[in-house]
Amino acid sequence: MQKVAFVDLYPQYLELKGEIDAALENVIRTSSFIGGKLVTDFENALATSVGTKFAVGVANATSALWMTLKALGVGPGDEVITTPLTAFPTVEAILLNGATAIFADIDEKTFQISPQEIEGKITPRTKAILPVHLYGIPVNLKEILRIAGKRNIPVLEDCAQAQGAEIGGKRVGSMGAAGCFSFFPSKNLGCWGDGGAVCTDDENIARFVRMFSNHGRLEKFTHEIGGANERLDTLHAAILRIKLTKLDEWNAQRRNIANFYTEALEKIEEIQTPQVYEDTVPVWHLYVIRAQKRDELANYLKSKGIGTGLHYPLPLHLQPAMGGEKRRGELPVVEQVTNEILSLPMYPHLALDDAKRVVDEIANFYSGKC
Ligand SMILES: Cc1ncc(COP(=O)(O)O)c(C=O)c1O
Repeated sequence: MQKVAFVDLYPQYLELKGEIDAALENVIRTSSFIGGKLVTDFENALATSVGTKFAVGVANATSALWMTLKALGVGPGDEVITTPLTAFPTVEAILLNGATAIFADIDEKTFQISPQEIEGKITPRTKAILPVHLYGIPVNLKEILRIAGKRNIPVLEDCAQAQGAEIGGKRVGSMGAAGCFSFFPSKNLGCWGDGGAVCTDDENIARFVRMFSNHGRLEKFTHEIGGANERLDTLHAAILRIKLTKLDEWNAQRRNIANFYTEALEKIEEIQTPQVYEDTVPVWHLYVIRAQKRDELANYLKSKGIGTGLHYPLPLHLQPAMGGEKRRGELPVVEQVTNEILSLPMYPHLALDDAKRVVDEIANFYSGKC
């Protein structure tokens, strides 16, 4: 039985092996492992790719979000509105600043935070709005920016899953106060460990993040504030600089696979395929369907050697750290949707024949041919 992996990163390395090996050897030979020209070169290329004046490489997206919220003045007593359907780190960034996470329910067709629900959650304590371009599908940012703009509330884009996605011809991460990116290995632009970045046009945010992430200093022995060690490693920057040249091509390959899935799965009544907003270009970090008998389907696919994932099984307000089961009923849409979502195999080098096998097995499951 031919297996279909949920994700396989090795082909990315094979495609760039010569360049990556040479870049790593160069870092090792110079023994310059922290900061330096390679980090700056990558930051400049990233800023160009995203379309912002500044890009600051940092240790991961959790710290990118944590430090950017801090730069926006978020602290104890403040509220930050975000989605209940995201990876837990989005919320950790709020908690790390001593603020309160307020969840706004999602749009069930796109899985993205609903602008109308955000508007209903704004209070005088709302210090920032933190939408997440989940699965690589851009949120309805125009509407969110309109709602936030009326009250002068900054919008911080969590772009961890959406490197290269576009809205109206502009890249995500370039339209709010700042955009935070993750280079976790399986992300659309992944390094070989943890990495992240903050992209922004705002010089104050860029300066603060650069300083805070490097022990509160811009000069070697002058610490202007108490900061932390949240820098991007040079080895990662060297790899990322090379992989960035492939981002658009690999995202196009993801879109090919997503289009194939959507066209084929739309014919199966028990499946709802993901929708996107008008005038956007998604980058399909994950391809997530809503499926009847989701758990049985996942088990069946597993028995056929096909990997799937759950992103995410529990809405964040129901996590023990956020209140847990006593909050059930607060956000009905996400609570329903999380019972039905299933992530299908998705990575740039996934063969269309393998994607076809996934679709065929899903069809077999529902037609009772299994
Ligand atoms: C939406 C979202 N935000 C933030 C993060 C945190 O990223 P990192 O692992 O780089 O800290 C992730 C990672 O899973 C994510 O998916």
